[in-house]
Amino acid sequence: MIKRAVIPTAGRGTRFMPATKAIPKAMIPIVDRPTVQYVVDEALESGIEEILIIISPNGEPVKHHFDDKPNIKFVVQTEARGLGAAIGLARDFCAGESFAVLLGDDVVYNAGRTALGQLIDAHEKFGGSIIGVQTVPREKVSSYGIAEGAQVEPRLIEVSRMVEKPNPDSVNSRLGILGRYVLNYGIFDAIDKTQPGKGGEIQLTDALEILSKSEKIYAYDFEGRRYDAGNKLGFLEAAVEYALRREDLGERFENYLRGLIKFK
Ligand code: UTP
Repeated sequence: MIKRAVIPTAGRGTRFMPATKAIPKAMIPIVDRPTVQYVVDEALESGIEEILIIISPNGEPVKHHFDDKPNIKFVVQTEARGLGAAIGLARDFCAGESFAVLLGDDVVYNAGRTALGQLIDAHEKFGGSIIGVQTVPREKVSSYGIAEGAQVEPRLIEVSRMVEKPNPDSVNSRLGILGRYVLNYGIFDAIDKTQPGKGGEIQLTDALEILSKSEKIYAYDFEGRRYDAGNKLGFLEAAVEYALRREDLGERFENYLRGLIKFK
């Protein structure tokens, strides 16, 4: 049973400047809810009971947003030294057990089982750490961590190699690692051994590559409409589609969009 989730939100948010100068990126709303709220809701819907949010030194608004939720705790990452370093701060919280990680930049819509829920199901069946992936277009390969490996089941791959932001010619896969993980506790020792990589940051992908030498890592090609809310276009897609799904807004917003397109 996976009971705990870690949500890192302490990145620099450079792709969303100047909005992120004073406001953490996690607080930028999609319709009327901060992005991090979608991610917390996905975690709770997946059966998670306790959440640790890694915040940056200007992350007070994130704390404030959840101050009525006793199952959410916070830790400050004083310097943005990378996603691996951020997760390393969750060692005590995880208390020796496997745990989930959800990145706020990846918002995933599912009418059925959540993306994280699908990974948890795979973890319960196969053990090992499970990383969430989806096929990305070739021109986007160099923007993601990429997982290579052999198919075990229709959506499950046993991972043989992971590379952070590779040149597309240097890998034989287009499976992008997309912000949902179930990790075994051994990841913390692997993070401690990880040297700064791309951008001088401690990369989670590099730590996973170290962990893969001692235990199995699987990639799960999860179902769901995933938005890259960390980039401007992806964020706009999320805003439009979530608004269209809303009972209180959807119809009026759709009429507005239809009119707008007709007159263009
Ligand atoms: P990104 O690499 O997308 O960085 O981090 P970022 O700061 O959010 O965005 P840009 O590229 O500067 O615009 C992936 C996830 O890891 C978290 C981020 O908050 C994001 O959820 N992260 C990254 C941390 O918590 N700490 C870090 O040191 C780095």
